[in-house]
Amino acid sequence: MKAVRVAANSSYNNKYGTFPHKDWLGRPYGSKAVAKKGGGWVLLLAPTPELWTAVLRHRTQILYVADISMVVSMLELRPGAVVLESGTGSGSLTHSLARAVAPTGHVWTFEFHEQRAQMAAKEFEENGLGGMVTVTQRDIEEGGFPEDMHGRADGVFLDLPKPYKVVPSAARCIRADGMFCSFSPCIEQVHRTAEALNANGFRDIRTMEILVRQHEVSRQLLLTDLDNPPAGPTKKQQRQAQAAAQRAAKRQKTAGGEGAAVAAAAAEEGTAAAAVGEGGAEGGAAAAAAAGGSSKPQEQAEQQGEQQQSGPQQAQQAQQQQRQVVHKPVPFGRGHTGYLTFARRVAA
Ligand SMILES: C[S@@+](CC[C@H](N)C(=O)[O-])C[C@H]1O[C@@H](n2cnc3c(N)ncnc32)[C@H](O)[C@@H]1O
Repeated sequence: MKAVRVAANSSYNNKYGTFPHKDWLGRPYGSKAVAKKGGGWVLLLAPTPELWTAVLRHRTQILYVADISMVVSMLELRPGAVVLESGTGSGSLTHSLARAVAPTGHVWTFEFHEQRAQMAAKEFEENGLGGMVTVTQRDIEEGGFPEDMHGRADGVFLDLPKPYKVVPSAARCIRADGMFCSFSPCIEQVHRTAEALNANGFRDIRTMEILVRQHEVSRQLLLTDLDNPPAGPTKKQQRQAQAAAQRAAKRQKTAGGEGAAVAAAAAEEGTAAAAVGEGGAEGGAAAAAAAGGSSKPQEQAEQQGEQQQSGPQQAQQAQQQQRQVVHKPVPFGRGHTGYLTFARRVAA
């Protein structure tokens, strides 16, 4: 996926071809746009916080959609809400916070790294969030949130190395019944944050780890002992038939003119064609009659080949038809990213 800013006189190139932007203008989101040459295509998707998280330039570690959805939900964000965030980082979470509180709410986000703060502010503006997000360069662990934020926040979110240092400031900013959340990779950070929350008027403290488990989907044959075994000779039956044919051919050689009778016997054993060709025309005809097939040796040999194949082929076809869609968890996946610690501010 790629984020593309569209301009009528510009074009987008990738390994599937060249895509003039002017062909995209006026098309509804979700449309397929075909390359100028070569038949390649791209899907034109509406920009969303989720897609932005998937394509943004990483200037820091970022939060992904699984954690983000839990944060937005547990902070109980809604249109009109006021949220404080620190650090801003690459702005991945900020986009989702902004959409949740839009159009009348506001996200005040704080980042102590000057360049990161500037780049995030520029991106929020370019992505149409300028009116809903304010980025301020500030060391939140040392200075806490500005005093004019006291009592104004519906929710506070921290993604900082020492979130526990900011808990007293967060307690002053969050209104009674508002929510706090902190993201930390290490359980030691969680432990200290939980202690600070407990000491600063927060209750209902809980920590969770969000892990996404992927499932692999495939088609498989699920047979039980109630199912009939697939049609066609087994390998053992095929070997037995071959051996019988060899024995018959040997007997025929020694018996001479008795070829027809021998061939018929071989045919009864299911090996008519094996006897044909060595037993002469008469013998061949008898064998063919016994096998219910052609009297011409060549045709007969072909027919036998088909017969030998049709069993396994039919079985394969039958198996294909019986295959069912199944799924199983992929044994590996994205591992630990961090713990989310939530708490509710209660009235003093
Ligand atoms: C892991 S990143 C945040 C990523 C962000 N949640 C996202 O989804 O894109 C942490 C950020 O916190 C900033 N930071 C670290 N200590 C800080 C402090 N004391 N005050 C403000 N920002 C700080 C870092 O510069 C970094 O950009």
